[in-house]
Amino acid sequence: MGADHEKDFLDNMVDSVIAIDKEGKIREVNQATLKLLGYKRTEEIITLPFEKICKDFSTAGLKDKLPLAEQELIYLDKGGKEIPVSVNITTRISYPDDIILMGRDTSKIKDLISDLTQSQKELKASYEQLQAGKDDLVRSEKLAYTGRIAASIAHEIRNPLTNVSMSVQQLKKGNKIKPEGFKHTEIVERNIERINYLITELLNCARPARLNLQPYDIHKVLKDVLESAKTKINLQGIKVTKDFISKLPVLKIDKEQIERAFLNLITNAIEAMPLGGNLTIATEFNGNFFLVKIQDTGKGIPEKDIIKIFDPFFSTKHQGVGLGLSICYGIIVSHGGTIEVESKSKKGSSFTISLPIEQRLTRTERVK
Ligand SMILES: Nc1ncnc2c1ncn2[C@@H]1O[C@H](COP(=O)(O)OP(=O)(O)OP(=O)(O)O)[C@@H](O)[C@H]1O
Ligand SMILES: [Mg+2]
Repeated sequence: MGADHEKDFLDNMVDSVIAIDKEGKIREVNQATLKLLGYKRTEEIITLPFEKICKDFSTAGLKDKLPLAEQELIYLDKGGKEIPVSVNITTRISYPDDIILMGRDTSKIKDLISDLTQSQKELKASYEQLQAGKDDLVRSEKLAYTGRIAASIAHEIRNPLTNVSMSVQQLKKGNKIKPEGFKHTEIVERNIERINYLITELLNCARPARLNLQPYDIHKVLKDVLESAKTKINLQGIKVTKDFISKLPVLKIDKEQIERAFLNLITNAIEAMPLGGNLTIATEFNGNFFLVKIQDTGKGIPEKDIIKIFDPFFSTKHQGVGLGLSICYGIIVSHGGTIEVESKSKKGSSFTISLPIEQRLTRTERVK
């Protein structure tokens, strides 16, 4: 190809082409290079050292390594702005001491990739939100269903249970039982109590009692709960850290119920650390909500169980009833709050409760 033809050919290329002489100076460039780097005339760029237009890259000693494909370089335009380029480097046939760099601007691709990555992140977050929303819906549906079942079971069981209880009283009163039979009546009575307790608890978790809302210091509630669990905490060698914000968190709550919710969570945390560990209780304000994070370094919850832990009667404990978290959930939701859990097997769990700062009345309370 003649020199003029070669120039035409290079100037019609979309890619930037730069020829560098053996001193590392720019010998020739095509139109695409001028456009890419913001120069008007070829004379402005010819004889400049290549380092002037390319960041952190030297052509010294490069010849022995050629050809090189798809090198990610950063060109610098006339104003010093960085332009990412993908460059193929070869020797020049017409000037064997020269090297030729053919580069393509990849900033658009990079922007596109970063936009795509961002969209992917947003999609993932939306999906997780949807998933969490679905879990919440399933959970509240389950609780509503449990409530209906519990109410009818409670009704059906309480009457015959009262009869059994009264009959045992009659037997005891009339001295109709021989002393060796006492232990059996005791067992019957204990079990009547147990059934009564379970039914009441089940009713509680499905339909939390009407709220008696009063302004109360949440930190005080947490301190009281920790105080009541002190014996267990000390016995198991658990270190407690209170990471409370300095601002006084006075919220309108039903103190008895919120205390019960926190006690269930803190008891679970203690029970998850039979051989000791750290219990951290952190609080903070977040927009219209007050957050309480109860974190333990205990055995954690296997991923497959996370969806079930708020179900009534789900328990992995020997003596567990499995109502603690269902009750807790009912209480927090009836306060207009939410409860979230994060856990890793063998690493620990963290429950985050958010309570609204301004207590909005629930529909049932407004109807009154
Ligand atoms: N902090 C925690 N660490 C590990 N597992 C937990 C934790 N909190 C809850 N769990 C799991 O969730 C299950 C349900 O908890 P929940 O409090 O409802 O019932 P329970 O503690 O088993 O019994 P109880 O009715 O006496 O509270 C537990 O059995 C346990 O498997
Ligand atoms: Mg529990």
